[in-house]
Amino acid sequence: MKQQLEQIRLNGLRALDEAQSLAALEELRVKLLGKKGELTAVLKTMGKLSPEERPVMGQLANSVRADMEQKLEQRKAQLDAAALEAKLAAEAIDVTIPGEPVTLGHQHPMNQVLQEIKDIFVGLGYQVVDGPEVELAQYNFTKLNIEEGHPSRDRSDTFYFTDDDSLLLRTQTSPMQIRAMENTKPPICILAPGRVYRKDEADATHSPMFHQIEGLVVDEGITMGDLKGALVSLMKRIYGEDAVMRFRPHHFPFTEPSCEMDMQCHKCHGTGEVDGQVCSTCHGEGWIELLGAGMVHPKVLEGCGIDPSKYSGFAFGMGLERMAMGRMRINDLRLIFDNDVRFLNQF
Ligand code: PHE
Repeated sequence: MKQQLEQIRLNGLRALDEAQSLAALEELRVKLLGKKGELTAVLKTMGKLSPEERPVMGQLANSVRADMEQKLEQRKAQLDAAALEAKLAAEAIDVTIPGEPVTLGHQHPMNQVLQEIKDIFVGLGYQVVDGPEVELAQYNFTKLNIEEGHPSRDRSDTFYFTDDDSLLLRTQTSPMQIRAMENTKPPICILAPGRVYRKDEADATHSPMFHQIEGLVVDEGITMGDLKGALVSLMKRIYGEDAVMRFRPHHFPFTEPSCEMDMQCHKCHGTGEVDGQVCSTCHGEGWIELLGAGMVHPKVLEGCGIDPSKYSGFAFGMGLERMAMGRMRINDLRLIFDNDVRFLNQF
């Protein structure tokens, strides 16, 4: 029996040493140490031994079991470690490979200029308000003293929704003047930026959708001087102290007197020519029209329930894209809407 046990120990330890997987190891455990295993089979014959031999063999059998159990644990640890090693190697991440940069966008150049303009007017005490792009003809035209038959009401200029021409895409932000005057009592001091729509062919300075910023101030004693002061200070803040601009008399049905303000063309510096060619940015004019303005017409004030003998006001409506073109030195308005990142990245 002693020999038998020693043989089991020898073979068992060798087999465990050679086991190549955890599954093979488990199979060996059952074969060597299990209830139906080799060692158990030998122990079952102990009864046949003499009382003197029994404890000696018993001790030997225990040491064989202990050796095999110890070897089993040891081999299992080795195989576990090898498996972990293999897994780590397979899942290895090369932390030295350069990462993919996350590109962050930024504000659109037109919005940057809008923000600058809003900041300046908020600093002057204006309140920024928002209004509908789908507007009633009443607000876009009638209440602004633009009568039936006026050319700007023409179907070739305005996008209408209804056959009776009562609902439209606003052609200007000026209806916000009416909305402000109907909703609040003077003093009124608002800025209303937003989209407007006209049936225009797109060119370097036109687009069928563009943005205007409407301004309206109504109070006692407001004069044309206040209007000029506000606009000149805006232009100096946006274009610098040496910005060149001019006011031209003009006509709007809802202001009297009315004017337009131009800025000297930033491309040709007022000459109307670039390298002997007609300047493409201002069409040879030397000036870029930025806004219309004037003193709110007494009829318009009255229509909104404001007494023109007590109150007066000024209003202006400027083209945001035109402002951005001058501010950012953009030569073609269409670039602002194309959203080509090669263009946008420059700002
Ligand atoms: N709404 C006019 C336009 O679109 C501009 C304007 C606004 C003129 C306010 C006078 C007063 O041309």
